[in-house]
Amino acid sequence: MRLLVTGSKGFIGRNLVESYRNSSYEIVELDLVDGADVRTADLSKIKPDVIVHLAGLSGVRASDDDPESYISNNVEGTVHLFNEARKHGVERIVYASSSSIHGNGDDVPVSMYGLSKRMTEDIADLYYRRFGVKSVGMRFFTVYGTYGREDMAVGKFAKKMIAGEPVPIYGDGTQSRDYTHVDDIVSAIHHCVESPRVTCDYVDIGAGKAFTVMDLIKALAEALGVNNPTIIFCMRHCADVDATLSDNSALGELTGFRPRIAFAEGIRKYVEWLRGQ
Ligand code: UGA
Repeated sequence: MRLLVTGSKGFIGRNLVESYRNSSYEIVELDLVDGADVRTADLSKIKPDVIVHLAGLSGVRASDDDPESYISNNVEGTVHLFNEARKHGVERIVYASSSSIHGNGDDVPVSMYGLSKRMTEDIADLYYRRFGVKSVGMRFFTVYGTYGREDMAVGKFAKKMIAGEPVPIYGDGTQSRDYTHVDDIVSAIHHCVESPRVTCDYVDIGAGKAFTVMDLIKALAEALGVNNPTIIFCMRHCADVDATLSDNSALGELTGFRPRIAFAEGIRKYVEWLRGQ
């Protein structure tokens, strides 16, 4: 089976591509880093059976300052890819959506990033109803782990603690996230790629337990062996939701898989990897 992975050089993409090494899949990578833009990709030569679409601009708070780029990369990129998939008979697209489409629990996004991901789901819906293109929108919940992004809390806080620098908290640190280890995300993607039941699905993919930013600092400090890290309290960001928590039942029904890496274990795993860098 030929699998096209867009955004293959990004955080989740790198983990995914590595996981398919020595598998029977033929992996074709597409990433802006290599000069290949998903907005203009031509699939007539690649002819993939399945696409894992991870390319796009990430970052909730950063999307306030550059909304056009989020729409262009995430929405135009996705519609182009779905249309290519329709033209070339791709079996299914498994694409990155986000917990941020849920907003503050009312399914109303509060960031341009969240809105752009909501729009990708609408595109998927239309392409299924009109053209029968099958897809799964994977709503990832605050992913961390190997190759983790440095703008995200887990990587940023860990690096600051190691450097003995103060850790900036946006707000009072009581906001909570369903932090999800990338190994669980990769396993969930494998299951979505292989599930025979896919039509037009949307699934939360999260560890299923929420922890506050303060909990995160405590867990990282413990794993790193740092005593009393210095904290600076900054302004809360309006694009941040108060809390996220996944409901993995749709993923379970579709694929039989449920994430299983617990928070403390995942943080220890991440710190171990970081130390090896
Ligand atoms: C993350 C990713 O950045 C998005 O790409 C992804 O789609 C989203 O998860 C998701 O779940 O859908 P976010 O939850 O904001 O977004 O993740 P972090 O950037 O790691 O922030 C986690 C929490 O830490 C937030 O409450 C944030 O306000 C806080 N934080 C972050 C700080 O207090 N200080 C910082 O310096 C950075």
